[in-house]
Amino acid sequence: MISVEKLPNIDNIENNEIYEILTNNVGYFTHSFFKYPAKFIPQIPAWAIDNFTNTDDIVLDCFAGSGTTLIEASLKSRECLGVDFDEISRLLSRVKSTKLSKKDIKLIKTILLKFDKEKYIDKPLPKLKNLNHWFPEKNIKSLNALYFYIIELKASKKIIDFLLVCYISSIRKSSYSDEQSPKPYISTKHKKEPKETVQLFNTIVEKYIEKLDTDDFNLHFKAKFIGNDARNFKAKKYYNKVKLVCASPPYINAFDYVRILRLENVWLRNLDDNNIIEHKKNQIGTEQIYANEYNELTHKFGIAELDNKIDELYKIDKKRAHIVCKYFVDMEENIINIRKYLKEDGSYVLVVGDCEIRKIVFPVYKYLIELAEKNKYKNSKVFSYLIRNPYLRIPRKKRGGLIKYDRIIVLNK
Ligand SMILES: C[S@@+](CC[C@H](N)C(=O)[O-])C[C@H]1O[C@@H](n2cnc3c(N)ncnc32)[C@H](O)[C@@H]1O
Repeated sequence: MISVEKLPNIDNIENNEIYEILTNNVGYFTHSFFKYPAKFIPQIPAWAIDNFTNTDDIVLDCFAGSGTTLIEASLKSRECLGVDFDEISRLLSRVKSTKLSKKDIKLIKTILLKFDKEKYIDKPLPKLKNLNHWFPEKNIKSLNALYFYIIELKASKKIIDFLLVCYISSIRKSSYSDEQSPKPYISTKHKKEPKETVQLFNTIVEKYIEKLDTDDFNLHFKAKFIGNDARNFKAKKYYNKVKLVCASPPYINAFDYVRILRLENVWLRNLDDNNIIEHKKNQIGTEQIYANEYNELTHKFGIAELDNKIDELYKIDKKRAHIVCKYFVDMEENIINIRKYLKEDGSYVLVVGDCEIRKIVFPVYKYLIELAEKNKYKNSKVFSYLIRNPYLRIPRKKRGGLIKYDRIIVLNK
């Protein structure tokens, strides 16, 4: 393993090298807003942007998540486009790439002082069964009142969005849910005392304002979303225009984003108990597969090792075999779709982890490279870096296998 402060230039990286990036500076500027699951450290997209683009080139992240790539692109004066199927991704990326003026900040501070929880007592609660299981009664009232107070404000969209990001950042801490585990879960062993919502919200607003109110970082572009589904989004205007796509797709069978972001999406009224399952089906790596869908396994990728491993898994676990198969079908669709957006000299930098399912190891990067080559890409490099922050990149329980390294794959059009 090679320890470095910063990843070297692409020409100085040998295939299959493993790096450890020695930095704790991962939450600078707006990167620390909201604890989004499985985000990568900003040093990764920063490296890709420095190596594959010039000022004013277009950078796309088709699994934008918390917008790490988009913020780095904007800071480095590259136009930044995003795609993600979760609404929170759009909201976060927009807010993280928008500065507040001194006037906005002053206004936000007055807004905070005027909040009166009692005024919203009759407002309808979100449609989530057992709200009381997750939150104490007093916080349910505060969260509901705060939501209506924010969305009914007569203020600019940028202020409302900023407050909504502070709002969703207060939800987990206001609940009984454990904060170390990405998915909401209440530990019976270690009962947690939820924080008081309004006070917490005010503290977060102050903290985020401080992060944005700086001359050390300059944003040049605002994140713009051009689709929801990485497999088939269509924005013809950008065909052959993108210089770099830098993205980390979901892991197979490890992070269920819909479940992890469920409480926040329910409070934002993006989702409720009635449509959550439908939404899950569009997630790459989804486990929302019904028994009648996995009776037979017919798809073959024409990649012997991958096909054999899926067959092997099918013998012991039909459902998991289908999940894995569907993952690679979806990723192949994504790889084909992305090629349309890339310029002739454009690159797709993919960040993925290996996974282990029922003791069968799937070196995901290997199969994605083969799928890309099958679809006319050239693979120029693959190397790894050590994951140092377990919350961000490793599921706590080893479901889906232990992901110790992330692989960085460079594909050229
Ligand atoms: C590993 S995370 C990306 C994290 C991101 N790199 C960051 O730093 O925040 C994967 C993302 O893929 C998104 N996703 C899952 N299925 C998708 C689909 N079909 N189309 C687009 N995005 C999808 C999830 O919502 C999640 O935000």
